[in-house]
Amino acid sequence: MDLNMGMVAREAGPGPGPGLGLGLNGLPRIAPAKTKKPKKAVLFFEVEILDAKTREKLCFLDKVEPHATIAEIKNLFTKTHPQWYPARQSLRLDPKGKSLKDEDVLQKLPVGTTATLYFRDLGAQISWVTVFLTEYAGPLFIYLLFYFRVPFIYGHKYDFTSSRHTVVHLACICHSFHYIKRLLETLFVHRFSHGTMPLRNIFKNCTYYWGFAAWMAYYINHPLYTPPTYGAQQVKLALAIFVICQLGNFSIHMALRDLRPAGSKTRKIPYPTKNPFTWLFLLVSCPNYTYEVGSWIGFAIMTQCLPVALFSLVGFTQMTIWAKGKHRSYLKEFRDYPPLRMPIIPFLL
Ligand SMILES: NC(=O)c1ccc[n+]([C@@H]2O[C@H](COP(=O)([O-])OP(=O)(O)OC[C@H]3O[C@@H](n4cnc5c(N)ncnc54)[C@H](OP(=O)(O)O)[C@@H]3O)[C@@H](O)[C@H]2O)c1
Repeated sequence: MDLNMGMVAREAGPGPGPGLGLGLNGLPRIAPAKTKKPKKAVLFFEVEILDAKTREKLCFLDKVEPHATIAEIKNLFTKTHPQWYPARQSLRLDPKGKSLKDEDVLQKLPVGTTATLYFRDLGAQISWVTVFLTEYAGPLFIYLLFYFRVPFIYGHKYDFTSSRHTVVHLACICHSFHYIKRLLETLFVHRFSHGTMPLRNIFKNCTYYWGFAAWMAYYINHPLYTPPTYGAQQVKLALAIFVICQLGNFSIHMALRDLRPAGSKTRKIPYPTKNPFTWLFLLVSCPNYTYEVGSWIGFAIMTQCLPVALFSLVGFTQMTIWAKGKHRSYLKEFRDYPPLRMPIIPFLL
């Protein structure tokens, strides 16, 4: 990487001349003046920001410090275009390439004499915490409407009646526990690296979570619901799977939290800890997803309800896609990444 390429001497003590050469770090070296004590040289970058779609020039920043981060450049860009606040901006080196990270430093990027960055508008943003709270509070509330059989769901004569099957009450406890746990983890456990996500995603995600919760709850709490084929034995086995997977999921979330000091965005290779639930890290990259899928399989066995099985299947498919992406990133980022690990299912997937 030629670091000189992006350096423009804007103001320098002795000025460029025969004494201007390359330092050990590859940056221009300014020869000290012989007679006078040299003024400290200051070198700046020029940064132009173009629209990634139209290539229209949106902004020109002529005195950017070499050690400026992308986050700082976004702040400068916002001054001329206040409608694009930093969280909305994606800046790239290539119009179709990956977004640069906020912590990337200008002088470490492979940029030209004048650094050209391409801008894409990510659309209106909403904080992750708000997204998760909305996504998870919905199913919790919706499920309870069906559980209490509020009017206009099952017909007048069933209003506020209660099921005579123990498994229906157990299912309500498990479902509520799952979403309360997720809400509390969002508030007190996870240390997210991204502050926001596009506002439009919330509609998509809420449709998914709220819709499935209503569909599952409708059947499980239906007055004509029939308990699982193998009765108490099936329910007990399912409950054991559910509880173990919930504990596992929580343990992995705690282990991931401990990888990242508060306020940082550090990413490290997760390893098993003393907690046996984390030993799944020996075999998979995303054991929290493995446990999450396990919980829903447990819930499906407990309720023997088709919409629950479908929710487990769709969740599994989505989490497998994410787990594969995360696994690929680990392999790319860490040379010493444990070779035995698979993305989500040990030895298989
Ligand atoms: N039922 C479903 O359909 C479904 C779907 C998705 C998720 N979920 C549930 O929601 C939970 C959270 O999902 P998620 O997709 O946010 O999980 P995730 O990507 O594994 O992340 C969990 C937390 O750990 C952090 N983290 C992950 N890897 C890290 C590393 N190597 N070093 C440091 N920190 C790291 C993440 O930070 P970053 O902000 O940097 O990622 C995030 O704060 C899942 O475990 C699962 O229980 C359920």
